[in-house]
Amino acid sequence: MKFQVNAAMYVLLFFPFLVQETLAQVSCPSLETLCSTNIDGRKISSFVRNHKKFFCEHGTDNYKWIAIQPPCTSPVISAPRQLLCEVKTDGSRWFVIQSRFRKDISFNRNWTDFKNGFGTPCKTDYWMGNEIVHQLTSRGNFELRIDMIFNGSNYYARYNNFNVDSEENQYELTLNTFSGNVYDEFGIHNHMKFSTPDRDNDIDDRLFCSQMFQAGWWYMNCHYANLNGHFDSPTRLKGVTWTELTTGNYSLSSVEMKIRKKN
Ligand SMILES: *[C@@H]1O[C@H](CO)[C@@H](O)[C@H](O)[C@H]1NC(C)=O
Ligand SMILES: *[C@@H]1O[C@H](CO)[C@@H](O)[C@H](O)[C@H]1NC(C)=O
Ligand SMILES: *[C@@H]1O[C@H](CO)[C@@H](O)[C@H](O)[C@H]1NC(C)=O
Repeated sequence: MKFQVNAAMYVLLFFPFLVQETLAQVSCPSLETLCSTNIDGRKISSFVRNHKKFFCEHGTDNYKWIAIQPPCTSPVISAPRQLLCEVKTDGSRWFVIQSRFRKDISFNRNWTDFKNGFGTPCKTDYWMGNEIVHQLTSRGNFELRIDMIFNGSNYYARYNNFNVDSEENQYELTLNTFSGNVYDEFGIHNHMKFSTPDRDNDIDDRLFCSQMFQAGWWYMNCHYANLNGHFDSPTRLKGVTWTELTTGNYSLSSVEMKIRKKN
């Protein structure tokens, strides 16, 4: 108990200061390189070494993430907010855009919520926000990696190109050049627009997939991968599905989507 109180005070008193100090020598790192090793990776590493407390653990895999608050405004983010950089998988500098393993918050949300993002990095499940992802991916070439756990095994899917278009174009998805240790169930969603229960952008006029499955996603008519679905839903196809693994009947145990800029 006593330790917890002390630790909490330590965070409150020193965390903002330490973050600022850590990044202060970098003059306004651009958002797309904030997670990147070549700009501030060394500083992130020393920050990590010195302030282990501020890491969060990812399940039993011991993934380590750090939340960073930009010390300056950027064209992408007007208000300061925390972003999540994943520093373990396959080198560092991944932006985590979706994280679901705590199963503590709903992904049955409206357009505005998916646009702005929801959840708290390192504390709850998390959607970074379509607008930020669009802004990021329009500033360079990004790749996408999806890590999944199902029935005790690890799976990943990787796309060499990943882009989310503007809100004007309904955050349309571009995705290509797959590799991974699963069947490519997401590639078929290429060129789909984003739908939410209050905005029907799927390709079938007779359906409203986002309302049927109660989630925001790049639905077609409707899905082969439903990564924003409902964990362990008893309703067929409504779960957090990757069809080859889960069929329509089960949910993944966890999933995270992350992007990084290619050189
Ligand atoms: C979207 O949902 C949030 C709550 O998650 C609510 O505060 C907001 O008013 C909703 N916006 C619209 C346009 O429905
Ligand atoms: C999970 O793995 C076990 C052991 O390999 C297997 O017997 C079972 O059928 C699997 N369950 C599913 C849903 O794939
Ligand atoms: C999924 O569930 C349905 C209905 O309960 C059942 O008929 C079907 O055999 C199940 N499929 C698999 C792959 O478990």
